[in-house]
Amino acid sequence: MDKLVIRGGHPLHGTVSTSGAKNAALPILIATLLAPGEHVLDNVPELVDVSLSLSLLGRIGCPSLVLDGDSARVRLDTTRIAFSEAPYDIVRKMRASVLALGPLLARQGRARVSLPGGCAIGVRPVDQHLRGLEALGCHFELSGGYVKGVVEHLRGAEFRFDMPTVTGTENVLMAAVLADGVSVLHNVAKEPEIVDLARFLRSMGARIQGEGSDTITVDGVPALRPSRQPYRIMSDRIEAGTYLVAGAITGGAVTVEHAPVASMGPLLAALAAAGCEISTDGPDADGDATRVHLRRSGRLLPVDIDTAPHPGFPTDMQAQWMALMSLADGTTRIRETIFENRFMHVAELSRLGARIQPDGNQALVQGVPRLEGATVMATDLRASASLVLAGLAAHGTTELLRLYHLDRGYEHLCQKLAVLGADVHRVPDDVRVMPAAAPAPAPAAAADRAAG
Ligand code: EPZ
Repeated sequence: MDKLVIRGGHPLHGTVSTSGAKNAALPILIATLLAPGEHVLDNVPELVDVSLSLSLLGRIGCPSLVLDGDSARVRLDTTRIAFSEAPYDIVRKMRASVLALGPLLARQGRARVSLPGGCAIGVRPVDQHLRGLEALGCHFELSGGYVKGVVEHLRGAEFRFDMPTVTGTENVLMAAVLADGVSVLHNVAKEPEIVDLARFLRSMGARIQGEGSDTITVDGVPALRPSRQPYRIMSDRIEAGTYLVAGAITGGAVTVEHAPVASMGPLLAALAAAGCEISTDGPDADGDATRVHLRRSGRLLPVDIDTAPHPGFPTDMQAQWMALMSLADGTTRIRETIFENRFMHVAELSRLGARIQPDGNQALVQGVPRLEGATVMATDLRASASLVLAGLAAHGTTELLRLYHLDRGYEHLCQKLAVLGADVHRVPDDVRVMPAAAPAPAPAAAADRAAG
């Protein structure tokens, strides 16, 4: 097991490039099950969750090859499906494996998927996934911690989700594309990763309209075939946002390249309101800016946020925002409206000197002048990110344990932070680390000593 050793307290400067989006790569990798043949995907991030998805596909009978090199290319062969099953030992490590339900039911007519248990941030039920798939003609039984599904005739239907659910929308969408007839899905999630999945499905011949809005309409087709071109997965807006906060919390100047700026509005607005100078440029083929420049030299101002489904402030940036606001000049109210237990980072941030008062689904953050390094423990992916950010700003040495959480969602984190000038090292967790060297004595003191 490794730990991260961060010697913080100095501003970050430089340019970092965003990797492919974890939450787009996972559904797109699994969506390849819908179309027998060879698929080629580009900009696939090197993450534990991606490796787990490839292991899951391998267990189903679909081998893959990760081609090194700049394009982060993955080849997948989904010609044959040997087992229509997502086993517990994979699902327990990555709950997004539940996304195998829709594609396996659509292609094979049956699926057996381990129920994803809860996790640190909440119970994470899948009732909406099952109800949506039942509307398309699927039948389920739960036994022994597994959900077993069968479908005789997958047919288009109208269905309304009780709440916007990202993977719930993705699961039902992936079944609907091969259903017989038209499906109209209401109250769907509008995250950009769902738009990316819809684009990928369309590149395989699916007929989809309305992704990114409240209603998605699907005209089912009898079969899909692999996309003719390598499909490039969108950039990760949460990773990009995390590095922008790294620049803001250390009072530096950071440029993030290949960021999906069009889907980062609420975060960029909050950073500007907090006193950061923000500019964007570098339009991509769609004319969207993809480069964000951030500089923060003045006071950090308190900015209240409520998390919300896209296009609101993303829940996956809530922990990072809390770390930033712990150094604001004033008090900030942060409300978490998506998950019932997503304040696990509060206790650990407090060990670094933050003053945070949780109260139900909201927390009051009273800004302090500085944070002090300490040993802290990660509890979930985005909580880990918030502790890294706080450690970068804290004076002294911070050690972050349980790094496997970070490895799930941040590609080459140490290398990218080092490019920005951070003093961050990954070492085995039994290595004793010398505290940061005490600052050199002021010249006057040295002169006095010399004078005796
Ligand atoms: C996706 O999780 C993301 N994961 C999460 O990112 C993200 O935080 C979340 O969406 C919200 O944006 C992936 O895309 C792989 P939901 P998901 O279903 O789909 C309730 C990260 O850090 N709900 O949109 O599991 C649920 O309890 C991860 O990258 C039901 O009640 O989240 C929650 O309160 C963490 N029944 C709300 O909906 C259901 O059947 C939204 O959850 C499904 C969801």
